[in-house]
Amino acid sequence: MPLLEWSDKYNTNIRVIDIDHQNLFDAINALYDANESGHGVDRIDVAIKALRTYVVVHFEHEEHVLEQAGYPEFDRHRATHRDFTHVIDSLAELYRQDPDNVDVNKVLDFLGDWLTDHILKTDMDYVPYVRGEKEGNPPPETSVHGPQTGPQTDVHIAFTVPANKADLIKGFVDSVMGQDLAAENFEKAFQLAHKILEENSLARAKKLFGVR
Ligand SMILES: [Fe+2]
Repeated sequence: MPLLEWSDKYNTNIRVIDIDHQNLFDAINALYDANESGHGVDRIDVAIKALRTYVVVHFEHEEHVLEQAGYPEFDRHRATHRDFTHVIDSLAELYRQDPDNVDVNKVLDFLGDWLTDHILKTDMDYVPYVRGEKEGNPPPETSVHGPQTGPQTDVHIAFTVPANKADLIKGFVDSVMGQDLAAENFEKAFQLAHKILEENSLARAKKLFGVR
């Protein structure tokens, strides 16, 4: 018997989303099978990587749908996706470092609870906006990407930010684009912040998945 069983209550009736969610159920069940069958580290490793791929692809699909629908809680929803992606990345890294130290049963409990809870509570909230039953915000201007032929090529990036952070973000972009010491320091600070985020995420995954 699979760990997760699909039922009608998970249907959003948005085809692309439901297909993705079913793929995620299958990916978690594949990890469950790999663990139960005792076929060892390689199969579990493959299953974790496959799950990661499905997660990333699904979040891209879903965020595109939500952005086009002008879903008012888009930023908050996207933040939960980022958070989950960090956990999965950290899980993959911890399993790569030392498979024996990861409690796969705890991983499966976490994944199953997260996904079913996310679909039933967080995802269901956007359904009326996507189906046009509730009116969303106007969708953002479409991003136009130029051909990225080299580091000197300019590309146009358009994205939506919270109004109270717009000036800060514009200032940050201006500073980073400079050719001076400030730009260099900004880049270093960003890399450092990214590293701290990664370390925090690993520490959290260690707690979640029983790593000593
Ligand atoms: Fe979602």
